[in-house]
Amino acid sequence: MTTHDSLRDEVRRKYAEAAVAVAEGSGCGCGSGSCCEGEASGDFGTSLYTLEQRGELPDAAALASLGCGNPTAVSELREGETVLDLGSGGGIDVILSAKRVGPTGLAYGLDMTDEMLALARKNSADAGVRNAVFLKGLIEQIPLPADSVDVVISNCVVNLSTDKDAVVREIARVLKPGGRVGISDVVAEDRLSPEERAERGSYVGCIAGALSQSEYEDGLRAAGLEDASVTFTHAVADGMHSAIVQARKPAR
Ligand SMILES: C[S@@+](CC[C@H](N)C(=O)[O-])C[C@H]1O[C@@H](n2cnc3c(N)ncnc32)[C@H](O)[C@@H]1O
Repeated sequence: MTTHDSLRDEVRRKYAEAAVAVAEGSGCGCGSGSCCEGEASGDFGTSLYTLEQRGELPDAAALASLGCGNPTAVSELREGETVLDLGSGGGIDVILSAKRVGPTGLAYGLDMTDEMLALARKNSADAGVRNAVFLKGLIEQIPLPADSVDVVISNCVVNLSTDKDAVVREIARVLKPGGRVGISDVVAEDRLSPEERAERGSYVGCIAGALSQSEYEDGLRAAGLEDASVTFTHAVADGMHSAIVQARKPAR
């Protein structure tokens, strides 16, 4: 087994624990190091959503929020669009997206962890959402055809990938021409080396695996995406921020 495989297995194990903790009603288990952790309690989770959005969610879905931002707030989703959420966890952003795109649209959630998929399917059913589909798979090998998605969103997941180039290549492949990227993620300032990022938090805690701002923007451009930008929103550790990552696939 490679280092990459064992790291991915550790991520899967930790997020399976977090899903079980939520399903049992005891919160995300963050205190036990089972999910993303910042320096302050409001750095991650449901407090990053508006009261109106929280009102659209079953309690369990809100409780399951492990993200570092609110990608649905920046993606300007429209009726009839197809949205893909990479690492959909307990389903919060898929549920909100499904409501935005309406019955003529579709929201996919993709996750590798069975326990998270079970939680998301239950939360989505409890929210009365009928246009959401949860897929099991890796964000490095998205199980969807090329040119099939209008908007790719994700909330605090790309930093957990052991092959970020593959994730960005896959995003560029599945997007339709003119399709958009609206991702929330933890991103480091360019001054921090990978070793310095790792000193600030763990890999499963969404800190050590973070890309720097330039690495992110360069990676998006190298995959053929345009208008790539990374905008810091709030600090989660010294020199590390929650950020909004945006880009677009060129129109044909
Ligand atoms: C920090 S949680 C975020 C969940 C959700 N986006 C949210 O905002 O609540 C990370 C999620 O990504 C999933 N994940 C991590 N790495 C993955 C990968 N390489 N492929 C698919 N899913 C992955 C985990 O199983 C977990 O559900």
